[in-house]
Amino acid sequence: MSVDPNRPSAARIYDRYLGGSHNFAVDRAVAQRAADLVPGIAGIARANRAFLRRAVRYALGRGVRQFLDIGSGIPTEGNVHEIARAHDPQARVVYVDIDPTAVVHARQILGDDPRTAVVQADLHQAGAILADPQVTALLDFDRPICLLLIAMLHFVPDTPELRAALRAYHDALAPGSLLAVSHATASARPEEMARLADLYTRTGTAMVVRNAAELLSMLDGWDPVEPGVVFSPLWRPDPDDPPVEGPASFATLAAVGERRGG
Ligand SMILES: C[S@@+](CC[C@H](N)C(=O)[O-])C[C@H]1O[C@@H](n2cnc3c(N)ncnc32)[C@H](O)[C@@H]1O
Repeated sequence: MSVDPNRPSAARIYDRYLGGSHNFAVDRAVAQRAADLVPGIAGIARANRAFLRRAVRYALGRGVRQFLDIGSGIPTEGNVHEIARAHDPQARVVYVDIDPTAVVHARQILGDDPRTAVVQADLHQAGAILADPQVTALLDFDRPICLLLIAMLHFVPDTPELRAALRAYHDALAPGSLLAVSHATASARPEEMARLADLYTRTGTAMVVRNAAELLSMLDGWDPVEPGVVFSPLWRPDPDDPPVEGPASFATLAAVGERRGG
């Protein structure tokens, strides 16, 4: 798959919300329409990045030093390896994304960093991702790993293939591993969020909003740590986070699950 500047991409639209420069006119047009439908949508992206930061720090606090970030996107700052390295310079991070723009960007910022790798793949290709030589060289599957699926599962329909992939990641990771998820939801403002999902779907990226029970069912085999599945800003809030207002307070759900033993 190559970069197509004429087709909007979820990764580049999100980059636009975050004020990045890795986007094209088609992406900016969708981002503008999204902002018209959900005023303050950029705040959702910022609040989501704040959740990512808290989840990575939580994992580090639990002694986890390895991260597999699938749907990693095109972040301008606050990347997983930067957060992790502030805590432990030896931390290892594999970034995976289906979008070539995200992969090219990640390779640019990481260069030949020996403790990070970038893989272009689809979440559903669990076998290939887990067996990728870059992944197996970097991550020790006998020790806990934090799997990050942040703001990406809402681009994936619930199919037997998805469930099989989620099970494969679960089974490959050691007990004590963590799964961090955030996900678009329409549970608080159904009409607004349904219109947003419809816009994404009409512009080429099918988007599925889910409620807490639906998200919980994707955490099968993982025990949610406190406070469970909540609106993202309520997941272990940190005074350093940017202020949250408007749609950012209700548009996404978040949770971190711990892999059960055995
Ligand atoms: C909204 S961005 C989130 C980026 C980052 N995780 C964050 O939360 O800041 C969603 C990312 O998921 C990626 N994505 C969507 N479907 C995917 C799939 N099936 N496999 C891998 N990546 C996928 C998109 O390309 C995009 O970069």
